[in-house]
Amino acid sequence: MTSEPLAPDAVSPAGIMQLGMAFWGSKTLLSAVELGVFTALATGPKTLPELQEGLGLHPRAARDFLDALVALRILDRQDGRYANTPEADRYLDRAKPSYVGGLLEMANRRLYGFWGNLTEALRTGQPQNESKDGSNPFTALYASPEQLQTFLGAMTGVSLPIAQAIAAAFPWGDVRSFVDVGCAQGGCTATIAAAHPHLSGTGFDLPAVQPVFEAYIAGRNLAGRVRFQPGNFFADPLPTADVIVMGHVLHDWDLPTKQALIGKAYAALPSGGTLLVYDAIIDDARRENAFGLLMSLNMLIETPGGFDYTGADCMGWMRAAGFSATRAQGLHGSHAMIIGTK
Ligand SMILES: C[S@@+](CC[C@H](N)C(=O)[O-])C[C@H]1O[C@@H](n2cnc3c(N)ncnc32)[C@H](O)[C@@H]1O
Repeated sequence: MTSEPLAPDAVSPAGIMQLGMAFWGSKTLLSAVELGVFTALATGPKTLPELQEGLGLHPRAARDFLDALVALRILDRQDGRYANTPEADRYLDRAKPSYVGGLLEMANRRLYGFWGNLTEALRTGQPQNESKDGSNPFTALYASPEQLQTFLGAMTGVSLPIAQAIAAAFPWGDVRSFVDVGCAQGGCTATIAAAHPHLSGTGFDLPAVQPVFEAYIAGRNLAGRVRFQPGNFFADPLPTADVIVMGHVLHDWDLPTKQALIGKAYAALPSGGTLLVYDAIIDDARRENAFGLLMSLNMLIETPGGFDYTGADCMGWMRAAGFSATRAQGLHGSHAMIIGTK
């Protein structure tokens, strides 16, 4: 009996398996950032023995690790010497201001482990991080100076390309002042101020953030033009300015808190002023922006009530708070900004 040759099947398990095992590649990259592979290679190509010794790798692991990074297209290898790809050189060398590895460092130190409890979060709706005991997530996170530094640096890593898009896309020419509410290290504050020298910028965040913010702003030579205002956006009014920026802030909180923060921004703005919200805004049909939806699951892991939202959701909350005109505009990657005018 002859059997029929297997017909090429359009329904393949390849995509499922690739997604299911994606954590192998992800953790390999995160460990490479932790070990400083890309910073070591920023000075020039290196051989396997040089990298093995310089990074403290075990001989059993080094070759597979580095060749996996080549196969993952994050390193190159020519004539036995490893080198950064152009992307790795620009974005993963710790010595460059364009470094975005802060987010990956935090993912490695915190999120990778916490996401191991995703199933528990899905069943209980409870955070799985330092605030698992029910405390305020930022109080729990900032209790350790090292965690504070890692977290605030991570925010710069995720926000720099978004901030560059905001600096280019928003009509800053008519604006004199802006406040970046929940500014973290000041990656967004500094990027907008650097791109538009006529602006005066304020970063508003919890007092613990001030030294980290001021060191970063000084490093970007903006100390004269960008200042920090310590405060608590639940207890204090927001500083007034022509534009209030809220990036990755609303998604940390439950719906009543989101609405209260939008209301506080409305109260602080002058007539004609603007609230500029940016987040990984989910598409209105909730079926395309996988990063935004996964970010929302990250809020499940990280916060007691936070979630990401669609542009239509945010514009509805803005209009309910009194904003007369609202619009959405795409930014970098899966991020967008929602703009409300008072
Ligand atoms: C997820 S981070 C976003 C950082 C930054 N805007 C960005 O997009 O990279 C949220 C920020 O809100 C700040 N924050 C949390 N609770 C706050 C409060 N009660 N008052 C002021 N800032 C607060 C945190 O310290 C943190 O810097």
